[in-house]
Amino acid sequence: MLEIKNVTKTYNYSYKALDGVNLSVKSGEIFALLGPNGAGKSTLINSICGVVNFDSGNISVDGYDVIKNWRKAKTLIGLVPQELNLEQFEKVIDNINFSRGIHGKAPDNQYIEDLMKELSLFDKKENKLRELSGGMKRRVLIAKALSHQPKILFLDEPTASVDPELRKDFWEVVKRLKQRGITIILTTHYIHEAQELADRVAIINNGKIILVDETSELLKKMGEKKIHIKLNEKIDNLPDSLKKLNVEINGNGNLFFRFNSANGHNKIDDVLNFLKNNNYSVKDLSTEESSLEEIFIKLVEENRNELSRNL
Ligand SMILES: Nc1ncnc2c1ncn2[C@@H]1O[C@H](COP(=O)(O)OP(=O)(O)OP(=O)(O)O)[C@@H](O)[C@H]1O
Ligand SMILES: [Mg+2]
Repeated sequence: MLEIKNVTKTYNYSYKALDGVNLSVKSGEIFALLGPNGAGKSTLINSICGVVNFDSGNISVDGYDVIKNWRKAKTLIGLVPQELNLEQFEKVIDNINFSRGIHGKAPDNQYIEDLMKELSLFDKKENKLRELSGGMKRRVLIAKALSHQPKILFLDEPTASVDPELRKDFWEVVKRLKQRGITIILTTHYIHEAQELADRVAIINNGKIILVDETSELLKKMGEKKIHIKLNEKIDNLPDSLKKLNVEINGNGNLFFRFNSANGHNKIDDVLNFLKNNNYSVKDLSTEESSLEEIFIKLVEENRNELSRNL
């Protein structure tokens, strides 16, 4: 559905905001772009959507080159930009209908009405934009982006400044769009949001894609589990055999260690066997899994060290 080949973008003749980006997104996927402020997420999305002129490389949407076939590409794309850019003195319904019109689609009152209902905007359809709350304005942006029935929807930080309840509603909307076969690309700083929604994630840093993977695979491969073991007896000094297994004592006098699925299972056996053989009895055992957020921070940190080593 989306093919990006070797795309670069330089601002002010010197600053490389995109540095050889390659990416492909399958039809019907929800794909999340993650990265710190200034990483190049918006520049990439805006390059695809024709808002930013990229310097070199190729981008195609559903087989249509976004430069050579820009007219066709535009009809396939819906964009919810990061910045709110609404006509404050116009009514909600006029805003949405206008968007459909500029994409060259004939009016379709039923579709627009259903869309407003789906986004809980129908009650506000006669209100002027300036009379809406920030979260409601974001919903109007989403309605505008969907007004011409695009096949691929770009959401650039759609839930920034949206309250937790509205955010959950929004997740439901995105899941329903996916069920209808719409491909969705979103950027977010709420990594929990990517974990909840995305089939795959890409991490971008300094204009370069540093990783693309399925969300579940990433959690499996890079995720760590933390195991907490509460014993009936208190251990003050760790025996060497446990130290060798990198077991630690936490603040409450309980045992604690980390493992990842690649190498972890023997380690759990080893720790439990040691405890059993030395007559310690386990009162409670709990595990804690790392989130995409922890993985993300780790990857960006590693990448930063890598970059400074290369300088
Ligand atoms: N119009 C512009 N002129 C000059 N530099 C720009 C322009 N737009 C963006 N940049 C620079 O390009 C880099 C990438 O910006 P971009 O907006 O793509 O980042 P982002 O990943 O979307 O960040 P955020 O998470 O803050 O939205 C930044 O260093 C930014 O300052
Ligand atoms: Mg941005």
